[in-house]
Amino acid sequence: MIIVLLGPPGTGKGTQAAAVKTRFQVPHISTGDILRRNLAEGTPLGLKAKGYMEAGELVPDGLVLDLVAERLKEPDCSGGFLLVGFPRTSVQAEALDKLLAASASPIDHVVLLEVPDGTVVDRLSGRRVCKSCGAVWHATFNPPPAGMVCPKCSGDIYQRADDSSEAVLNRLQVYARQTGPLIGYYDAKGLIRRVDGSKSPQEVEAAIFASLA
Ligand code: AP5
Repeated sequence: MIIVLLGPPGTGKGTQAAAVKTRFQVPHISTGDILRRNLAEGTPLGLKAKGYMEAGELVPDGLVLDLVAERLKEPDCSGGFLLVGFPRTSVQAEALDKLLAASASPIDHVVLLEVPDGTVVDRLSGRRVCKSCGAVWHATFNPPPAGMVCPKCSGDIYQRADDSSEAVLNRLQVYARQTGPLIGYYDAKGLIRRVDGSKSPQEVEAAIFASLA
């Protein structure tokens, strides 16, 4: 099964990815997580991506396509995978189609999470994340533990630099301009499954599974 989780920043893609991955027993590939890991480790890729990510701009297609192409060659992807935050531009979507055509395994579903912009701003301004394992909390809706240490891996819990209000507004504009056109691209292929992401995490999870049935 090959699933793409699409939607503006803060719509709950990372939150829902864990349940989808467990249900379908596929690896979860998040380009944002891979880029943040490179940033934290100070790799050449991380250094190239840093300025774009902190400003809420997209990292150039070439850098992202190379890392995805490498990741999809790994043996755990042979039975399918869940893509989160990729593709994000028409160039990336077309490149993914070419990669998948080569292995004769097309995308099965593109789940589109939809949430009003105001809700996205509230969610991202309160988001807290584990630096090590990427676990996600919200300062109000799902508060992190006192001491800001992750109970799963003992990593530090922090606020992402691109969750500042200016970066969030820019990310919403970047999404509308560069990623929004992918909705039409996948709709024309009959792959879009629209899900209301503004409900509770449990309701959103149930709606995603219903859309994949
Ligand atoms: P990336 O990491 O992909 O960020 P994003 O798409 O902007 O998405 P987010 O991680 O911000 O949000 P999310 O939808 O996962 O929401 P979450 O579940 O955390 O990308 C970051 C950057 O990397 C990009 O800006 C770009 O620079 C670069 N990049 C990455 N991929 C790229 C690509 N393909 N090409 C080029 N550049 C790329 O939830 C948010 C908050 O809401 C949390 O606090 C959560 O607890 C809360 N929440 C979630 N669901 C609910 C709910 N149902 N009710 C209440 N609260 C909820």
